[in-house]
This record gives sequence, C-alpha cells and structure tokens, in this order.
Amino acid sequence: MDSSIDIAISSAAVHWLTAKPEVPYGDGLFLSQLDANLKKILLKKAADDWEIFISARSKELKVGGLLFVTGLASEIDDQGKLSVSAADLFTVMRRVLKGMIAEKILSQHVYDDYIFPVVPRTLDEYLAPVCSEVWQVKVAKIASGTNAFYAAYQQHGNAQTYAKDYINFVRSFSESAMIAGLFSPGAISMDAKACSEVIF
Ligand SMILES: C[S@@+](CC[C@H](N)C(=O)[O-])C[C@H]1O[C@@H](n2cnc3c(N)ncnc32)[C@H](O)[C@@H]1O
Repeated sequence: MDSSIDIAISSAAVHWLTAKPEVPYGDGLFLSQLDANLKKILLKKAADDWEIFISARSKELKVGGLLFVTGLASEIDDQGKLSVSAADLFTVMRRVLKGMIAEKILSQHVYDDYIFPVVPRTLDEYLAPVCSEVWQVKVAKIASGTNAFYAAYQQHGNAQTYAKDYINFVRSFSESAMIAGLFSPGAISMDAKACSEVIF
C-alpha cells in the first residue's frame, strides 16, 4: 500500500537489469568490455531500471521512511579511470567462452548478441534519481568487499580448493543468467546444462 512502509532493504540485487537491450554486443560480455556507444545503451537501461525502482520505493515508503540499498558499483579513480566491479572476473569468463566458440561448443552468433545483464553503477549514477526534494541522502559510499575465499586460501594454501570454492561462488550468481541468455539458445551439440558444465 502506498505510504505505508517504514524501512525498505535491498541487498546486492539492484545491479541486475530487468532485461538486456537487444543490440549486438560483439566481443563484449560485460559493461567494462563495451565501446562508448554500447556502454551508453546499457547505462541508459540501467538508469531506467533504477529510476523505476526508486520511484516505486518513493511511493510505498512513508514520509520519513528509510531505504537501505546495496549493489555492485563502479568507481572513478584519481586519474579519472573507471574501475568496474568484477571486471577482471569477466575478462577471464570471456576468454573461456571464446575458447568454447573455437571448440564449436557455443554459437558465435548467440555470443555476439549476449551481454551479462548486470551493471555496477557509479555513485553519481546511483544518486541521480534520489537527488531531489523527495529524498534525503543520509549515506552514500562505495565500500570494498573482501574475498573470503582468498582469505581462506591464505590460511590453507591449497590452490585447487581455492579455485573450486571461487568457481562455485561465481556459478551461484551467474549460471542461471548464462543458461537463459547464452547456453540455452547457443549450445551446439549438447544441452545448455552440459554447456554450462564446460565453463564451470
Ligand atoms: C547476491 S544475491 C543477494 C540475495 C540477498 N538479497 C542477500 O543479500 O543475500 C542477488 C539477488 O539478485 C536478485 N536478482 C534480481 N534480478 C536478478 C536477475 N535478473 N538474475 C539473477 N538474480 C537477480 C536475486 O533475487 C538474487 O538472489
């Protein structure tokens, strides 16, 4: 019901797009790998989704109600360079997917049309729709996360275990999106699940 909620909390979910813009992405698998034009298209979709999210919360919250939200972020460093959360991971994933295309396990054409539907926004992009008289921003900051699997690896020293743990972590958040958008339409001579086994 409108104006009935005291506190709304969303944790680590708002970086997921509602859908990917249907344009050819070529070799780009993730925001950090796109040219300026494609980046603009994806950021527009992220901004539209975020606007809808914020507008819905502004209706359901009471006046004085609190919204606490976390999501993946991008950060501009002192040299003006954009650093996108998870960019290194997607560099590795792109390399593996291109190997699968070379081995004729995955369709080049489906890969070219695919983008992983997650956008880590900058702080300014997060703040854009809340910089209005409707909202008062109490805290807005980018915090570095820690890699718990790496911390564990530093204790146990077993690289195989670290690799397995980290892959399972990546699989837990990415597999459903990749099966739906990439492996279901794009697996060649095997089913989508089997294709997914290859990357993970
Ligand atoms: C990292 S989990 C966070 C889960 C929970 N909020 C927490 O803090 O533990 C990311 C969540 O994003 C949500 N989500 C929203 N859109 C999604 C999408 N298109 N694909 C996958 N997950 C999505 C899912 O509910 C998923 O569980």
